[in-house]
Amino acid sequence: MEFLGEPDGTGAPRLAGLRPEPDELRDLWHQLGDALAALADLGLAHGDLSAYNLLVHRGRLMLIDLPQVVDVIGNPQGPDYLARDARRIGEWFLARGLSGGGSAPEELLAELRERARLGPWAATYVGRAVG
Ligand SMILES: Nc1ncnc2c1ncn2[C@@H]1O[C@H](COP(=O)(O)OP(=O)(O)O)[C@@H](O)[C@H]1O
Ligand SMILES: [Mg+2]
Repeated sequence: MEFLGEPDGTGAPRLAGLRPEPDELRDLWHQLGDALAALADLGLAHGDLSAYNLLVHRGRLMLIDLPQVVDVIGNPQGPDYLARDARRIGEWFLARGLSGGGSAPEELLAELRERARLGPWAATYVGRAVG
């Protein structure tokens, strides 16, 4: 991946160090959802997602620190990593004032589980048992 930052060598800031205004916060949340959805469509979770592993470069959100990317289906702990990622970063956005209710982390997780073809919680082990 190319360096993200300024010509003088200053790296793009981590999301953790920013206090985005409400409009930007919502925009970053949508960008994050798009990036995580693309991973989930491939059956992958970041695996160590936090506001420290997200850079914001000129308004664009970038995931970094991906070497431990997790196979959500093949790794027995995959669903747990996906849930931890969604909850940890969702809580960060809620703590920064993301509007639209406190269910954002759970809604994100539900969408990512569906995209990764994990289905609802209750079906996880049934699916493994038969498949
Ligand atoms: N400004 C940046 N532009 C591009 N890649 C970056 C930038 N900052 C960090 N990275 C990359 O993201 C990866 C993880 O960085 P970092 O989160 O600092 O490492 P770790 O959490 O393992 O200590 C590294 O491979 C690093 O090169
Ligand atoms: Mg890191």
